[in-house]
Amino acid sequence: MTVRSTTAESGLPAEFAVDPDWWRQAVVYQIYPRSFADADGNGIGDLQGVTSRVPYLRELGVDAVWLSPFYPSALADGGYDVDDYRDVDPRIGTLADFDAMAAALAAAGIKLIVDIVPNHTSDRHEWFREALTAPPHSPARDRYIFRDGTGPDGSLPPADWRSAFGGPAWTRVPDGQWYLHTFTREQPDLNWDHPQVREDFLRTLRFWSDRGVHGFRVDVANGLVKDLPEKLPSQAELDAMPQDGSHPVLDRDEVHEVYEAWREVFDEYDPPRFGIAEAWVAPERRARYASPRGLGQAFNFDLLEADFDAGRFREIVTFNLASVRRVGSSSTWVLSNHDVVRHATRYGLPPAAGNEGRAGVRWLLNGGREPALDTGAGLRRARAATLFTLALPGSAYLYQGEELGLHEVADIPDGARQDPAFFRDREATVGRDGCRVPLPWSAEGPSYGFGPGEAHLPQPSWFADHSVAVQEEDPGSTLNLYRRALAHRRRLRAGESLEWVETGHEQVLAFRRPNGWLCVTNFGDSAVDLPEGEVVLTSRPLEGGRLPGATTAWLQT
Ligand code: GLC
Repeated sequence: MTVRSTTAESGLPAEFAVDPDWWRQAVVYQIYPRSFADADGNGIGDLQGVTSRVPYLRELGVDAVWLSPFYPSALADGGYDVDDYRDVDPRIGTLADFDAMAAALAAAGIKLIVDIVPNHTSDRHEWFREALTAPPHSPARDRYIFRDGTGPDGSLPPADWRSAFGGPAWTRVPDGQWYLHTFTREQPDLNWDHPQVREDFLRTLRFWSDRGVHGFRVDVANGLVKDLPEKLPSQAELDAMPQDGSHPVLDRDEVHEVYEAWREVFDEYDPPRFGIAEAWVAPERRARYASPRGLGQAFNFDLLEADFDAGRFREIVTFNLASVRRVGSSSTWVLSNHDVVRHATRYGLPPAAGNEGRAGVRWLLNGGREPALDTGAGLRRARAATLFTLALPGSAYLYQGEELGLHEVADIPDGARQDPAFFRDREATVGRDGCRVPLPWSAEGPSYGFGPGEAHLPQPSWFADHSVAVQEEDPGSTLNLYRRALAHRRRLRAGESLEWVETGHEQVLAFRRPNGWLCVTNFGDSAVDLPEGEVVLTSRPLEGGRLPGATTAWLQT
């Protein structure tokens, strides 16, 4: 076994070689690089922009940054269409910029996680170009999933499958064959039965691990391994098949062999690298992705799909803590990311409709008019939910801009939209651009401090009041709430245990953590009395010493 010392090779400070389990209880901040900070003024956020904001991240108090794709890409799907896994998009920077960013983060004590996209490449990846120039049934085509068409002359697709963003999932190439793409046609699915595919990703894992990357967020982790029968099922048949490990395309049991091989690479490093699976699978099958013999951790999106409701929140927490304990992992908590309507907005829409951001999607479809969005209530609940999740055992994954209490941007003109989901399925969604609008750093400037020029997506005028500069001056701002919360959490380092405390109110949840930390959340509308203890933080001011509706308080007892 090769032992690589990142610290020695990358020249990072020695204290960076840390607790191998650091990721188990971490606060991870997701950066969508094109929309975070633009240093060169081309309208697209870049790595130098991230480096320039390391002091901000440090002050926020996060343990790690997860960087969404920054690889060369035609941006058919916001960078999740990767041309080259071992390089940087020239609009975003260079490998030298990457190294400088990694070093700046390391010096600030912040770990780095990068996004890896193994289910598909882009159609500009050298393998796909080669596949197109190679004849049907050639080894070059075998790195992807090519099939002959159906019908008398093969002009019909191999099956009627729909892609995730709408439209067909099979596209024909000039010589008549068809290839599978679960997402856009610019994202051909790889064939993970091909040994070169497996080997090449191991090389990519080492490439970034050698550059000081501590972990990998694994895109569509449940999709890689497929077993397609000669006669393909129809979409309806596919939908009806159980997803129990034997489904032809989703969550197949053999996918875990891939991650066991990745684990061997992770364990070559000190501290060992880890992976976090993005796997939208049945909750009871999720923990397999978090196995310590595989990636180590998996996203739990249950809270993100739930309404702001005490019963649901308690059920979700109890279930997830138990299921990760069984596999020896730690839980993860997510309220927002680059794929869903921001949680401040979801919680401001009528309840029951908030699930999966679907209400948000409906609301966006009519330009953000009906059903009415209650921005104030949405933000109050968002702040309460955030303090609730930050008090839980496990890792919290935050999405850039949630610390500013940003709402989804509803009124992006059609002509400015970028998300392929909008172009392919306009009836169903306006897509995900509304949570990807570049961050406001200041109240003025051509892009509210995002960069010296205009931003690549239009920013609304209300961004000025939500900017970092404005919020820094306001002790009650959402930014200051996040800063205080992360500092307190870091001080307590409370480990893995949680004990529920009965409150006598159906809509009030309370739980105790080690070191006397008590978290109480009122999901209801009317104020309730607080238990004994010193109040250390509240998501909004108490009312005459009582906990108002849609509020969380942290107490020291
Ligand atoms: C994941 C990403 C999403 C992307 C898709 C295809 O779900 O989070 O943004 O569109 O995979 O790569």
